[in-house]
Amino acid sequence: MSIKVIVLAAGQGTRMRTGLAKVLHEAAGRTLLGWAVQELEDLDVTELAIVIGHQAEDVVSECPEGAAVVVQEPQNGTGHAATVGLTGLSDAGGTILVLPGDMPLITGTSLRRVIEEHDRSGAAATVMSVVREDPTGYGRVVRRDDAVVAIVEDRDADDEQLAIREVNTSVYAFDGASLAAALSRIDNENAQGEYYLTDVIGVLVDEGKTVSAVVVDVEEGSGVNTQRELADVSRVLRSRITSDLLERGVWMLDPDRVYIDATATVEPGARLYPETHVRGTTSIAAGAEVGPNVVLTDTAVGAGATVMEAVAVSAVIGEGAKVGPFAYLRPGAVLGRGSKVGTYVEVKASDIGEGTKVPHLSYIGDASIGADTNIGAGTVTVNYDGFAKHRTEIGDRVRIGADTMLVAPVTVGDDAFTGAGSVITSDVPTGALALERAPQKNVEGYAERRRQRREGDEG
Ligand code: UD1
Ligand code: CA
Repeated sequence: MSIKVIVLAAGQGTRMRTGLAKVLHEAAGRTLLGWAVQELEDLDVTELAIVIGHQAEDVVSECPEGAAVVVQEPQNGTGHAATVGLTGLSDAGGTILVLPGDMPLITGTSLRRVIEEHDRSGAAATVMSVVREDPTGYGRVVRRDDAVVAIVEDRDADDEQLAIREVNTSVYAFDGASLAAALSRIDNENAQGEYYLTDVIGVLVDEGKTVSAVVVDVEEGSGVNTQRELADVSRVLRSRITSDLLERGVWMLDPDRVYIDATATVEPGARLYPETHVRGTTSIAAGAEVGPNVVLTDTAVGAGATVMEAVAVSAVIGEGAKVGPFAYLRPGAVLGRGSKVGTYVEVKASDIGEGTKVPHLSYIGDASIGADTNIGAGTVTVNYDGFAKHRTEIGDRVRIGADTMLVAPVTVGDDAFTGAGSVITSDVPTGALALERAPQKNVEGYAERRRQRREGDEG
């Protein structure tokens, strides 16, 4: 069934205490607004209007292309927001789904249930509700002989209504024309002095129309108003993600201790150890082993690669490559198949060729290194002269001696060597050994002479 959708996302979210618009807070790698839009993915949505208000300039950039973004100013309540939302739709005809921007646990399956029930019953409105152990703070669904007759806000409810445990989720399917007409009849004479969307329910019932409700799993009705609630829904979203991956054949030593964004992909057969953070567009291929203590952001990990105790941002880790322990891959680090970036090594904007090894204590920046090359411990590409960055080019099968300083721009040809401790400032030809250090001088008998000098002074 095709529907139009209004997402209510104008609220400030004062109780988050961050100053950031509530819908811009993130859970499992998506903003709350992003989750609201995601929930619509499998529905037949013909038009989407998103009502924004607080920090509109920032929120608008989170709205998907093709959505009508309408600004509610000032934010006079959810009823007022729905009225503003209608202006973003071509007209109020057909079924309109209203969705809050702060309920990331709502599933597409439940939204479909609401829409189908609405369609089947022919009601003017269908409310998605949940039954809560503690209904405090939520609007109560008031029924008479089973039929929904009103929704009463917590702050406006009497004692009898406060005892009701069925509460409103703020998700509704409406007959659009009935919604538009009812919205023009609500007022703001309530505890908060706002126009409540919930009052539309009572208006419709007064008009002799029917309102039905679909009760869904209580977890889905968890709204985010505080940091506590954000942390709680994040945990649920994370466990949905890990459960799904476990089912598809990803191994995790302890699923509660991996943190995978909804936007990341992990292939069956990957292995994840505790304290692994998989962020953004990161992808982990089959057979890769990641963790413990790894933070990957927008990074591709190839099949069979191992990454341990490492941080990577916008990097590519080739098939079978080894990273860590204690490595830092910065943007543009591209590690070839079977390569190694080992302990206390930092790589930035550099290609590390197939089978090439940078095993210990090195900084490789703005470099391109060929295949089967070995970079000795303590090597540094000296890429910055205080004004600009320069490139280092190193060929295939090169042996860079330990503690080599490669002062860029500089090129080291295929099969070349550098002596340990050399400061390389000019190009090294193919197959050559570059040695840059003072010849060693041994002063024979030094210790004995020193001892005698000292005794002479004392005597
Ligand atoms: C609302 C419902 C309540 C329900 C609860 C579920 C009303 C009056 N109450 O209460 O029955 O149990 O949700 O979480 O509707 N918004 C706007 N513009 C505004 C005010 C709010 O766009 O002027 C948006 C918010 O950004 C948010 C949503 O509407 O996404 C809900 O608003 P909120 O203030 O959180 O409503 P609640 O008090 O939680
Ligand atoms: Ca809320």
